[in-house]
Amino acid sequence: MIDSTADPLLAYRPRFPILARANYLISNSLGAVPEATAGRLNDYYQSWACRGVRAWEDAWWTMAADMGDLVAPLIGAWPGEVVFQPCVTLAHAVVLSAIRINPRRPRIVTDEMHFPSILYLLKEQAPRGAEIVVVPSSDGITVDADRLIEAIDDQTALVAISHVLFKSAFIHDVRAIAAKARAAGALTIVDGYQAVGVIPVDVRELGVDIYIGGCLKWLCGGPGAAFLWVDPAIGRSLEPALTGWMAHARPFAFEQELERRPDAWRFLHGTPSIPALHAARAGLEITREIGVAAIRAKSIRQTTRLLDLAGREGWPCTTPADPERRGGTVAINLENGLEISRSLKELDVICDYRPGAGIRFSPHFYNTDHELDLAIAAIREIQATGAWRAFSTRAGAVT
Ligand SMILES: Cc1ncc(COP(=O)(O)O)c(C=O)c1O
Repeated sequence: MIDSTADPLLAYRPRFPILARANYLISNSLGAVPEATAGRLNDYYQSWACRGVRAWEDAWWTMAADMGDLVAPLIGAWPGEVVFQPCVTLAHAVVLSAIRINPRRPRIVTDEMHFPSILYLLKEQAPRGAEIVVVPSSDGITVDADRLIEAIDDQTALVAISHVLFKSAFIHDVRAIAAKARAAGALTIVDGYQAVGVIPVDVRELGVDIYIGGCLKWLCGGPGAAFLWVDPAIGRSLEPALTGWMAHARPFAFEQELERRPDAWRFLHGTPSIPALHAARAGLEITREIGVAAIRAKSIRQTTRLLDLAGREGWPCTTPADPERRGGTVAINLENGLEISRSLKELDVICDYRPGAGIRFSPHFYNTDHELDLAIAAIREIQATGAWRAFSTRAGAVT
């Protein structure tokens, strides 16, 4: 029995079944599934089983936007402004398909620490005439905001960055970068996958034009449920080429020509992932119930504790020491880190490993401090016994 007097967020722990079976420290990758999700997935089955095709008019057709209303307060948006997308990469692709590449403004400014999937997509804009400017990182942990700001000029059409870097959890100075972009006449598109649900986000306060996130990680919602916010002030002027019937003002008229809706639905395309939208609901509801401010306060405390524990062992960390610039993950870069991470998983200490970053621990509101101590003790033990040697260095591990 966990005592939640000192840490009220631990009252949510029993709602996540995996926590009784494992030391689950990987919410940067796949958040724990809430027990309530089983009921939500059953709702999906029941509506299909009992209502058949009428489920579309009951709820399914508008779900990509209705679920967006659950996300909106978590990012400082208004109801009606957020729509769901199948994945973060595709949400970027929808927006990029609406950016006309102009020879006088060909530049897309990004940085080398952006998530590779998005970098691939940005670089694929080059055959359309785009010039991709990739600002380097000097330490593999941070990206200097001043270097990014300097790279933005009157030839820049778009600035594409992560809010929180996936590898190191460094938090970009999004407000300063977006302010420079706006002054230069460029749009800012931010990938908040590693931010929403673990750090407070306010799209209007940040001054960005487009903000994308997803439920898989810190929102405990599973795969297939990403979301897109486009500032309505520019939304109407964007005409995605990656489109479809859901963006049409009269989809059921099955007209030959597209007449785009004026609102956020213009960024939809084909049939949404309805099971994924059902799966995402419980995590969003719990996150809203707790409030991101409380989640962030606990996250800072626990990531600080992890850094202190690692520091005491003399282990190098590839995560910012400044809590203001640090998201929810701590990466410890040890020799034989991949093998150690596999040994940890064998002991039900669930973490991941990324080359250049190390073993990553991502405690969330449901983790106890004791679980952090146990994870550190497990590494010590694995090193002392050489248990890591049993794990090969096969490439291509998923986590
Ligand atoms: C910051 C960030 N962006 C994008 C992705 C990939 O998103 P998707 O697979 O939904 O396209 C990840 C996945 O880990 C990520 O951490």
